[in-house]
Amino acid sequence: MARHKRKQMAEHRTGYDVLVIGSGLAGLTVALQLPEHLHVAVLSKGTLTEGATPYAQGGVSAALDAADSVEAHVRDTLEAGAGLNDEPITRFVAERAREAIEWLVDQEVPFSRIAPGEGTEGLHLHQEGGHSHRRVVHAEDATGAAISRSLSSLVAERGNIDLLESRYAVDVITGARLGRGENRCYGAYVLNDSTGRVELLRAPHVVLACGGASKVYLYSTSPYAATGDGIAMAWRAGCRVANMEFNQFHPTCLYHPEERSFLISEAVRGEGGKLLLPDGTPFMYRFDEREELAPRDVVARAIDHEMKRLGAECLYLDISHRPAELIEERFPTILRRCLELGIDMRKEPLPVVPAAHYTCGGVIADRAGRTDVPGLYAVGETACSGLHGANRLASNSLLECLVFGAETARDISAAAAESIPIPTLPPWDESRVTDSDEQVVVSHNWSELRRAMWNYVGIVRTDRRLERAARRIDLLSREIHEYYSNFRISGDLVELRNLIRVADLTVRCASLRRESRGLHYTLDFPERDARQARWTILVPAKPRPFGQLRARSDG
Ligand code: FAD
Ligand code: SIN
Repeated sequence: MARHKRKQMAEHRTGYDVLVIGSGLAGLTVALQLPEHLHVAVLSKGTLTEGATPYAQGGVSAALDAADSVEAHVRDTLEAGAGLNDEPITRFVAERAREAIEWLVDQEVPFSRIAPGEGTEGLHLHQEGGHSHRRVVHAEDATGAAISRSLSSLVAERGNIDLLESRYAVDVITGARLGRGENRCYGAYVLNDSTGRVELLRAPHVVLACGGASKVYLYSTSPYAATGDGIAMAWRAGCRVANMEFNQFHPTCLYHPEERSFLISEAVRGEGGKLLLPDGTPFMYRFDEREELAPRDVVARAIDHEMKRLGAECLYLDISHRPAELIEERFPTILRRCLELGIDMRKEPLPVVPAAHYTCGGVIADRAGRTDVPGLYAVGETACSGLHGANRLASNSLLECLVFGAETARDISAAAAESIPIPTLPPWDESRVTDSDEQVVVSHNWSELRRAMWNYVGIVRTDRRLERAARRIDLLSREIHEYYSNFRISGDLVELRNLIRVADLTVRCASLRRESRGLHYTLDFPERDARQARWTILVPAKPRPFGQLRARSDG
């Protein structure tokens, strides 16, 4: 009831101290750690529990075991990241992992424990690929759902936080886009999906916590929200973007006609799951001495290689040699879903394929989440913080949301002590657009884009494939720009416009990297080359003022 009342008030409020775009772990961490005297809005495209966070299975990495250490966590993260991580940032995050877990325990997240009633040290730890120790704190095999439930109910109780569901942020409003001499952030234009109207929300601090962009690929483990909106909005606002060539493909997405995005957690391999060819032979030993527990880039590439060599539609993951009780206890969600689909993992192998899973690159942000535009922050999967380098270590992403979410909240509360005058902001201009007469353009172009990215910018790349992708993206980009300029916008159009931008940034980064490293593998340059620039950094053109073409001209 209290929440309902706040939401009614929210219909009238057009100004906030802080606008948090995204209700995943990054956004909710920022919102909950901001002081309660600040008025905060948390936006989500769908319901509050939309986004990748509720789908996270494995858990959150933290060196809690007596035999483990921060040093070992740092070493494993750097090793997985193939030398491109920012080492001080990696250490900064690993050092704060214990505190982050303690915060979640304080928020009553029901993590799996060795025995009921024990303290933080009694948490059960999973093993995952690339980790030299058992290090992954989890809630059975549905860690993200448990975290999301606990934090969402807390945020709904906070009197200072308005939850704005069914809202698509379209663009952030900055000085440069208003034609001013400076480029500070002042708020955002937001499509209210329930009314179809674009609202203006003023705020001197805007946090992009919009998640990743894996939906740019045809096959993905990610939910629909992962369309790279935060990355595209930041780029249009004038922020640099980096390392977009490093798209992580998870090795084991369930292969089933009725369930195209269901993840089979890496923790299954951590508990002894073996990858098998269709004839039942193991093969990972031929690719890496760590076999099934090699980092994800190595395992996904090995599966891709074997599938192509054999012309196989999928390979298999077998844990049926482990006790049925262990599978039931550790993987109840995966077991249940697979049983619904007619597969009993206690008795038979699971059909699996790699699928796009995580965006390692993103908006360049410092350790307080600050981007190149004053007042605009990027946190979580939207950001390129330096933690992941060329390949993210399993279960480091939720940790990243927690650590940088807390730092961002700290930075905003310090900055909010000063009052920041907001100039007059123009309302959204709908004067020169009409209703679309051909919505089909959006769905067709959406599938064409995702197929092109899958075929030409996937696990194995070449210059020629990248050129093909670039030509298609260029064409789609022009069509969608024209469509966007002439018709009233919809949620699908907002997302497609952003996906096209993300695809363009990905291909540009991939074309700049003339070596194979981490998640970027090209047949034209199959070796690592130490002479390459460490990060591929793209710098946007000076943002064009909104009014120059129309209120929502592209940047
Ligand atoms: P998300 O949780 O994706 O949330 C994004 C939010 O932004 C959503 O609320 C969305 O509605 C909102 N949004 C987006 N665009 C807009 C817009 N234009 N306007 C308004 N709102 C917008 N990582 C781990 O560390 N451990 C794991 O075990 C793990 N398992 C995973 C399993 C799966 C199936 C997947 C897909 C990912 C997994 N990951 C895991 C990765 C991890 O879940 C994500 O990287 C992390 O949850 C991202 O959190 P986030 O807050 O940045 O974004
Ligand atoms: C998984 O459970 O395999 C996902 C872990 C991750 O993406 O970090």
